[in-house]
Amino acid sequence: MAKDKPVLFTGIRPTGELHLGNYLGAIQPAATHQEQFTSYLCVVDLHAITTPYEPKKMPDLIRGITLDYLAGGIDPDKSTLFIQSHVPAHVELMWLLNTITPIGELQRMVQYKEFTKRHGDAQAGILNYPILMAADILLYKGIAVPVGDDQSQHLEMASDLAKKFNRLYGETFPIPKNTADNPPRIKALHDPSKQMAKSLGPKSYIAMTDDADTIRKKIMSAVTDTGDGNNEEMAPGVANLFTLLELSAPQETVKHMREHHQEGGLQYAELKAVLADHLIEYLKPIQERRAKLEKDPDYVVKVLTDGAERAREVADATLREVKEKMGLL
Ligand code: AMP
Ligand code: TRP
Repeated sequence: MAKDKPVLFTGIRPTGELHLGNYLGAIQPAATHQEQFTSYLCVVDLHAITTPYEPKKMPDLIRGITLDYLAGGIDPDKSTLFIQSHVPAHVELMWLLNTITPIGELQRMVQYKEFTKRHGDAQAGILNYPILMAADILLYKGIAVPVGDDQSQHLEMASDLAKKFNRLYGETFPIPKNTADNPPRIKALHDPSKQMAKSLGPKSYIAMTDDADTIRKKIMSAVTDTGDGNNEEMAPGVANLFTLLELSAPQETVKHMREHHQEGGLQYAELKAVLADHLIEYLKPIQERRAKLEKDPDYVVKVLTDGAERAREVADATLREVKEKMGLL
């Protein structure tokens, strides 16, 4: 694996089944950038346990995300795929960065504010969540971080911590940024005012493993135009369907549907039927790869064991450098 290429890092929490938003925000960009970057793809189990979860289900969730990465085009010969908690340096660097992180910044994070608004109170793990994310990226000196728009604020915090560490202790980390200028934010199908999310339940998303019937049903009942916007702009629900069409259909089809919409002649039922067909076809090869991999649990274990070993080597070297600079070695 080439060491001289720039580094890409991304993580996905094992908190449920993967959906199209996760795929578009994190997996697809990572898969398409594999040649250009030395890539680290991480199943971030330590982030997942900051919200309520069932310990018995965790191993299956971790295995599921690993299958999704592999089926989505991540090649373990080109990229390092591993579980966060298998590399202890993540937590150690987090503690070190913790000492230079302003509490006020953590309290300004939207994810933290939304959690406390909903639950009244939060554990320290939710507050410190972005420091662990910064440690994830910086341990590998990541500069390219494909994430959806909901993670932009956390990514900015990682950049700020890299800059601050460099200023205080000497040039150590490159400054990470997103791989996309306009990171995607796919909306929930049943409520386009929110983003498609595991936490909103299956009505909100198309899972990567949904079968053809389920995809068709979910798309056909997606909310389109609630009629409360102005006429100039496309309603968020319709815009969301077009985003998914762009993902899955040939450009010609998208162009044709857009023109048809602008002329005012497009029935939403027609748009939905076309979109459902394309999504089903689009997901088919990914689902076939996943089904094949599922039959080979030993292979998945081996990928993760090898991945953790490779990740530990790089992470431990960075941690040593950081400790030296901080006067701890
Ligand atoms: P999570 O499952 O929350 O750990 O998210 C994993 C990745 O998927 C992150 O990069 C998120 O930004 C991205 N993501 C999650 N939901 C969406 C969405 N609705 N649209 C775009 N990206 C998303
Ligand atoms: N916080 C991210 C999310 O909720 C997951 C994540 C953890 C991550 N560490 C990361 C993403 C490092 C990119 C880089 O989706």
